[in-house]
Amino acid sequence: MMLKFCLFIFFTSLGLTYNLSYGYDPLDVRGNVTIQWDITDVNPDTYNADVTIYNYQQYRHIEWPPGWRLSWEWQNHEVIWNMQGAEAKEQGICNKSLGASPPHCCLKQPVIIDLQPGSKLNKQAANCCKGGVLTSMAQDPTMYASHFQMTVGLASTSSDTSQLNMPNNFKFGTPGYTCGDSQQVFPPTKFPEDDGRRWRQALSTYRVICTYSQFKAAPAPSCCVSLSAFYSSAISFCPNCSCGCQQQPGLLCIKKGQIPPILAKSKDPDYVAPPLVNCTSHMCPIHVHWHVKESYKDYWRVKITIMNLNVRKNYTTWNLAVEHQNLAHLLQVFSFNYMPLTQDRPTNDTGLFWGIQHYNDVLLQSGLSGNVQSELLLRKVPGTFTFDAGWAFPKRIYFNGENCVMPLPVDFPRLPKETSRHVRQ
Ligand SMILES: *[C@@H]1O[C@H](CO)[C@@H](O)[C@H](O)[C@H]1NC(C)=O
Ligand SMILES: *[C@@H]1O[C@H](CO)[C@@H](O)[C@H](O)[C@H]1NC(C)=O
Ligand SMILES: *[C@@H]1O[C@H](CO)[C@@H](O)[C@H](O)[C@H]1NC(C)=O
Ligand SMILES: *[C@@H]1O[C@H](CO)[C@@H](O)[C@H](O)[C@H]1NC(C)=O
Ligand SMILES: *[C@@H]1O[C@H](CO)[C@@H](O)[C@H](O)[C@H]1NC(C)=O
Ligand SMILES: *[C@@H]1O[C@H](CO)[C@@H](O)[C@H](O)[C@H]1NC(C)=O
Ligand SMILES: *[C@@H]1O[C@H](CO)[C@@H](O)[C@H](O)[C@H]1NC(C)=O
Repeated sequence: MMLKFCLFIFFTSLGLTYNLSYGYDPLDVRGNVTIQWDITDVNPDTYNADVTIYNYQQYRHIEWPPGWRLSWEWQNHEVIWNMQGAEAKEQGICNKSLGASPPHCCLKQPVIIDLQPGSKLNKQAANCCKGGVLTSMAQDPTMYASHFQMTVGLASTSSDTSQLNMPNNFKFGTPGYTCGDSQQVFPPTKFPEDDGRRWRQALSTYRVICTYSQFKAAPAPSCCVSLSAFYSSAISFCPNCSCGCQQQPGLLCIKKGQIPPILAKSKDPDYVAPPLVNCTSHMCPIHVHWHVKESYKDYWRVKITIMNLNVRKNYTTWNLAVEHQNLAHLLQVFSFNYMPLTQDRPTNDTGLFWGIQHYNDVLLQSGLSGNVQSELLLRKVPGTFTFDAGWAFPKRIYFNGENCVMPLPVDFPRLPKETSRHVRQ
């Protein structure tokens, strides 16, 4: 009876706080990817566009492989004559009458990908060529934008530039993103010139906003949390089948002692191997463990361990967003970086942890070290601090922006007195 009631409360609160289908993230309510399209020059039969992709998300990044991909649909018979700072994945079939040097891309729905760092040096543009990587704003504010330039014209010899319209149907090709319609913005973007002494202005500027939904990105979660505390011998394990069930047909995993099959090398340099995880009762590629380690007079200590159970992936620049009411009084983080996520939050109860460069910023694949860990020292605030009722455990944890499955509050490790009370009921 008690259990059913708690389950009801749990799922009700889950339903209200996680609006996954609409792409709403309670920890980053304004988070979005913005595509800015600046028309900088109009010629008799072409125009130049400067396109900038901004990752305005606090902790969700876009990594290589495969890196970002951007596509849209031309409304007339436009072609891309040339492009700097990025490239169209396919050129498509171009009209022979367009001349001896054909356009860069003649497809109605071009797919644009980033250039690799240092590749095709003659094709670079400012702020380009990062292999499609866009960092999150919190982790590296210098790499959250990507920029390319292109010359657009018509696929015929007509020079009616009124036929050159803003394309529609934008798609940001990382799973989970949905883009809205383009909107013209006023005033158009200003670009600094001459070290900021002069400002050049675009002729017109359009913006497309894309938002992320974990629900759209993948049908199942990819991360789970387990909990333990020095004051209890009970461990709250990752809930069974958090990310999948071992018995599920078609779901492969690596049994203890088994050697993972060697993948044939793909012809596509941006190919991403599907995850292959160690067999567990939760089947998650990422497992986060929160251990309440010690209690001092004025402080308490937590140990966080992140385990990678995917034998086919290294997580570079991983991050962990944590919501816990005591984070406002975080005194020390031993071997991760930390930044409070206070934007749009009524209280300072959420923060982002990530690895230290060249030390633990890469969470290596399962079987190679496969884990990173750190300890936190938090100050006990008289009147609010308690080890009662699971207070010492986090409310939510996100790994790389993916919400991790938590044990149910009824299963949290309890203080000995709580346990006896619970048993007597
Ligand atoms: C989810 O978000 C959408 C759009 O922001 C809103 O209309 C809807 O009411 C929300 N649903 C819940 C359950 O909060
Ligand atoms: C997108 O992000 C920017 C930067 O944080 C913010 O100013 C803007 O309001 C966001 N837009 C939407 C629709 O969320
Ligand atoms: C190719 O260009 C010619 C000349 O502008 C035009 O008449 C013809 O329709 C075009 N063909 C296609 C397939 O677009
Ligand atoms: C979870 O899985 C383990 C091992 O497969 C099993 O022993 C345990 O009974 C399961 N727990 C529940 C609540 O089903
Ligand atoms: C992960 O990194 C290690 C060490 O750099 C490397 O040996 C391994 O091949 C990488 N694994 C993947 C899946 O890229
Ligand atoms: C939030 O808490 C952190 C310590 O965890 C502190 O450094 C920061 O100044 C606080 N920010 C605000 C806005 O209170
Ligand atoms: C996962 O599988 C790999 C490959 O068999 C193995 O090296 C590693 O020890 C396993 N990890 C765990 C946690 O079982």
